[in-house]
Amino acid sequence: MEKKNVLKKPSIDEMTAFCKRKGFIVRSGEIYGGLAGFWDYLFLGSELKNNLKNAWWQFHVRERDDIEGIDGAIITHPDVWKASGHVDSFSDVFVVCKSFKKPGKVDKSELGKVKCECGGEYDSSSAKEFKLMFKTEVGLKDYGYLRPETAQLIFANFKAVFDGARMKLPCGIAQMGKAFRNEIAPRNFIFRCREFEQMEIEYFIKPKEKCPYDIPNVEVLVLASGETKEKKMSLKEAHKKKIIKKDWHAYWLGQELSFFKSLGANLDNFRIRQHDREELAHYSSDCWDLEYNFPFGWKELQGIADRSDYDLKQHQKFSKTKMEVLDEETKERFIPEVICEPSLGVERALLVFLYEAYNEREKENIVLNFNPKLSPVKVGVFPLIKKEEFENIGLSIFHNLRKKWNVVYDKSGSIGRRYARQDEIGTPYCITIDGDSVDSGTVTIRNRDTTLQKKIKIEKLEETLGKLLYGEFTFESLK
Ligand code: GAP
Repeated sequence: MEKKNVLKKPSIDEMTAFCKRKGFIVRSGEIYGGLAGFWDYLFLGSELKNNLKNAWWQFHVRERDDIEGIDGAIITHPDVWKASGHVDSFSDVFVVCKSFKKPGKVDKSELGKVKCECGGEYDSSSAKEFKLMFKTEVGLKDYGYLRPETAQLIFANFKAVFDGARMKLPCGIAQMGKAFRNEIAPRNFIFRCREFEQMEIEYFIKPKEKCPYDIPNVEVLVLASGETKEKKMSLKEAHKKKIIKKDWHAYWLGQELSFFKSLGANLDNFRIRQHDREELAHYSSDCWDLEYNFPFGWKELQGIADRSDYDLKQHQKFSKTKMEVLDEETKERFIPEVICEPSLGVERALLVFLYEAYNEREKENIVLNFNPKLSPVKVGVFPLIKKEEFENIGLSIFHNLRKKWNVVYDKSGSIGRRYARQDEIGTPYCITIDGDSVDSGTVTIRNRDTTLQKKIKIEKLEETLGKLLYGEFTFESLK
């Protein structure tokens, strides 16, 4: 992905306005004033989100031998959340700043330790616990919870998947889908919402099992617990120096950074940060976050926690269903441990890719340099002028290509305006039909990132586009 001269990355409010203007994302219930923390994905946003989720599933499930996927229910049996500890512990504390009476939220562990953004102290007499799970009626007398994470459905179905798919440790189970949290202060566009999606993996090992995979060769800023300044180093070095203690953690951090890189992200905008002890969730013994340098600061993009055997043990205890597996060598049964839980929010990843792609070619000429796999529209088809023979060829190409990809046909406005419209939404290639198309069966194909154009035979178009879109060859190498 070629980077153009970035004049200035938009603020989060500018990005919100851009996404609304172009048809990516709007506040849910906008015509009624919107409902805080809920967002609707429109004609481009829904395509972008689906492309991102498909790329994640492809990378983490389909291309691996050791991971299977599931899709669990959103409204879940209350005992799942009693066993997991969420009913008792999943809450934040609502606080009010003494200086400007600004409301805020803190984690229970932070009460009395952290201050408001303005530097003021929180009034401890106003502190109130706030449960984060949405509870709902089920039928006449039952109730359930809207899942606050996808992870627990993986644990509750562990035996069915492990045995059914004849899995062997080390191995993982993945799930992506909706999660709901009644956040006290949803903010920063889609960064913190009440309804969002997660892409999660629970990766199980035999206790103390070593990681058989190489740690990916990735350099990143590393901020270990207790440190104040991050240092750039390779994950291998960070593991060798025991900053990242477990080989599995170094491996999964590398995998996740490689996923972002494979879709065109610049890893200079990422860092990894280890949780301090008091920050760890109730189930976690070590956790590294992948953070991104958003315009509103370094923020958590993804958590990669070591959950040990906590969840499977809890579900075994509460459900009385055995969660043990057989050790083939010793013939003993044991409960596997979750050595890593890479847990990524779809919305936060989507925001990262929007920021990574957003460039201004010249003032007020925005280009989204998305990796083509993410682009909501893959190809624009334009007849150069409104002439019947041009339009017939254009429509025939359009109808053929849209069987494979999301393609637009546009015959209105100057050709420059039509290119600009597609650049703004990240369409990687545009096809123009002109006199040569009628006379010699060729069309012009234009590359969004370089604006270079090449002539190509119509019969070669579909195959060539396929290879360009999936990175099998570059536009420059096109003959
Ligand atoms: N299963 C572990 C878990 O849910 P988490 O750190 O609470 O851990 C994981 O959430 C990821 O889900 C976060 O790193 C973030 O990307 C996303 N996420 C969590 N709460 C969110 C919210 N309110 N809005 C958007 N994304 C959220």
